[in-house]
Amino acid sequence: MTSRDFTDYIDHIGDRTDLFLVVAAHTGARRALYPGSYLDLTPSYALPDVTYLDSDARARKAFADPSAAVELAGRHRHYPQDPAITFVPGDYTRTLRELPAAEWDLAISLYAGPVSEHAARCLNPGGWLLVNNSHADAGLARLNPAYRLAAAVHHRAGRYRLTTDRLERYLLPKTSPHPTREQLHAMGRGVAYTHPATAYLFRRVTHVQRHDDQDHEWH
Ligand SMILES: C[S@@+](CC[C@H](N)C(=O)[O-])C[C@H]1O[C@@H](n2cnc3c(N)ncnc32)[C@H](O)[C@@H]1O
Repeated sequence: MTSRDFTDYIDHIGDRTDLFLVVAAHTGARRALYPGSYLDLTPSYALPDVTYLDSDARARKAFADPSAAVELAGRHRHYPQDPAITFVPGDYTRTLRELPAAEWDLAISLYAGPVSEHAARCLNPGGWLLVNNSHADAGLARLNPAYRLAAAVHHRAGRYRLTTDRLERYLLPKTSPHPTREQLHAMGRGVAYTHPATAYLFRRVTHVQRHDDQDHEWH
């Protein structure tokens, strides 16, 4: 396998390096987890340490010898050190359960199903989830008490822009009520929102029970 597998895919879907650069700058994340990555290597252009997971045979073959991915990411990297790249083959609903808990700063969920639910345990307290709503995963994160919305990402005129303003206007369904988790799973696709964003950043919330019996968040 050569780096052509990765570059052909990036040429095909469009280069989202700037998305990951904006997210890396905002979050300070260094270690990312990308379930359902397929051949999208661009997170490694922005983040020094990325674990990719996918069940697809083509992705498994492309990552089998990581030197091609490391060499390509090394040429495009926006950070000083050599890229660290790991690939975990198989179904992420199973493989994520076998990875260490609370080890990653950022989980990436783009067009690959309900990643938010399976990746939550692997995120550090205060870790981040980058998610779009293609497979309803932004809606699932909205309903999940493990996360709270922290930013919206817009893609306009070829630029990614992140906003933390008036977050309450996001993820409100055009038609109320918002579907339940079970309904979103059954539909397998997201609902329309009044203020749609290209992607959303959520934060992993850890509730800590303190002596005054109030729930407090760790960030
Ligand atoms: C449409 S592609 C998106 C690839 C990439 N996230 C992107 O945005 O370019 C979806 C990928 O998710 C993978 N996928 C979906 N469900 C999966 C699962 N349960 N376990 C592992 N991989 C999965 C598929 O194999 C496929 O490669």
